[in-house]
Amino acid sequence: MANAPAARQPAPPVNCPTAEPESFVATMMGLHEHLDLHFFRHQQALLDRDIERATAHLAAYTTRLFDHIHDENTHVLPLYQQLGGDRTDAPTRLFLGEHQKLRDFVADFGMRLAVLRAEPADRLLLDLFDRQATFKNLSLHHDLRERHGLYPFLAARLSGEQRRAVLAARRWSGD
Ligand SMILES: [Fe+2]
Ligand SMILES: [Fe+2]
Repeated sequence: MANAPAARQPAPPVNCPTAEPESFVATMMGLHEHLDLHFFRHQQALLDRDIERATAHLAAYTTRLFDHIHDENTHVLPLYQQLGGDRTDAPTRLFLGEHQKLRDFVADFGMRLAVLRAEPADRLLLDLFDRQATFKNLSLHHDLRERHGLYPFLAARLSGEQRRAVLAARRWSGD
C-alpha cells in the first residue's frame, strides 16, 4: 500500500490526533456491540414468545441501526471514498450495498412480527429465526469489514481534527 502510514513523513502539527486512531476505531466499532445487545433482547423476547416485547426491542434496534447507517453513509464513507477506499478490495459501494441489505432485512422482520402477532404459529416463528440467522451472518461480515478495513484505513489517514469531527457529527453515539 503506497499510502501506508508507516511510509509517511512525521505528521505535521495539524495532524496531531485529538482523538487517537485506536480510540476512533474502538469508538465506532463499540457501537456494533450496543446494536448487538438490542438485537439480543429482541431475540430473547421472541424466545419467550412475547411478540409485543419483541416488537418494542426491534423498534429500539431499528432506530439505532438506521441512525448508525445514516452516520456512516453521510460522514464516514464519503471520506473513505475521497481517500482512495475504492481502490481497496472493499470499495464504498460494498458498504452501501450491505447497509441497504441490513435495512431491508430489518424491515422484513417488522412485517413478519406483525403477522406473528395475528398468528403466533411455530412455523412462522422458526422462519423468522432462520431469516435472522442469515441477517446475523451478514451483520458479522459487515462488522469484520469495518473493523479490519474501513476504520483502520480511515484512522491512519484522517487528521485528529477530522476524526473528532466524524465522532461529533454522529446522530447516534451509543446507548
Ligand atoms: Fe458500523
Ligand atoms: Fe456499517
